Amino acid sequence: MFEIDYCIIFTIYYKYALAYFSLALALILMKFIRKLLRPIVPKAFVPHAFRGWVWGVTFCESLSLCRREPFLPLPRLRFKVSGNPQKRQYLAVGQQIKDDLQTALKPTGKRLYDFKNILDFGCGCGRTLIWLRNKPDDCRLFGSDTDGELIDWCQKHLDFVECRVNPPLPPTDYPDDKFDLIFLISVFTHLDEEYQRQWLAELNRIAQPSGIVLISVHGPTVARQKLPPDLQRTLAERGALFYADSFWKLYFSEYYQTSFHTPEYIKNTWSQYFDVIDYVEQGINNWHDLVVLKKVC
Ligand SMILES: C[S@@+](CC[C@H](N)C(=O)[O-])C[C@H]1O[C@@H](n2cnc3c(N)ncnc32)[C@H](O)[C@@H]1O
Repeated sequence: MFEIDYCIIFTIYYKYALAYFSLALALILMKFIRKLLRPIVPKAFVPHAFRGWVWGVTFCESLSLCRREPFLPLPRLRFKVSGNPQKRQYLAVGQQIKDDLQTALKPTGKRLYDFKNILDFGCGCGRTLIWLRNKPDDCRLFGSDTDGELIDWCQKHLDFVECRVNPPLPPTDYPDDKFDLIFLISVFTHLDEEYQRQWLAELNRIAQPSGIVLISVHGPTVARQKLPPDLQRTLAERGALFYADSFWKLYFSEYYQTSFHTPEYIKNTWSQYFDVIDYVEQGINNWHDLVVLKKVC
């Protein structure tokens, strides 16, 4: 006759409970230690800590006997575009963004490779572009960015993309009506309103009539998690907020900080440049919102 051994069941439950309890305790302790250290550790130490992290990842990767993935930039460049030097995270996010763009295009009735001239504006070191490398021959990929080092890397390593540097403010040297699809991932999340206005006008100039422009923004989800309550109120009142947080200020120029939007602001303001055909909450990597725009013929 089968008998339940209550002693074993109790031991198993006990072990799981202990593991969960330890994990919870460790998380609480880490939060507490971070709070304790914040006023003591000088801000000047933070960039060194990040540099150490990037250096550590570079060192570990150089020791690894595994074959280096093609199209993978050095950890320092990965950190520059995503704030994280880890290889796995860089590749996974790029692939996810490609899938998310594909999903966002559904209301347009088109798929990615139906477009023939695709521009990744603010392409960085090609985190998304590398996932489009198996494009059909009649589809051309373009990348543009203000950062000469990133574009230089793309030109040397991504032979399926035509890359060039653009100035921080328009114009670009692309001709009118060139692209049928333009996407901007994590670019307008860093520009102030004046820069955004000027770039919206330029994107409109270089997009084909009926061309699609996809722009990721920090919407309500990111604002709730990143902004203190007083700035959340300011954002709700104004619809757009440009904010220099302590981390970003350490690395980037004044015009390139952190921006937030409300969906209402985008629908009201950006419609001066494009038809706003969709606003997908958390449409990019389950984090940024994605705005789907169409150039009016
Ligand atoms: C957070 S990174 C994202 C890069 C890339 N889109 C990705 O998802 O990996 C933002 C990029 O925008 C670029 N950028 C900043 N201002 C720009 C501007 N005015 N025009 C074009 N690119 C710009 C930066 O150099 C940087 O590579």
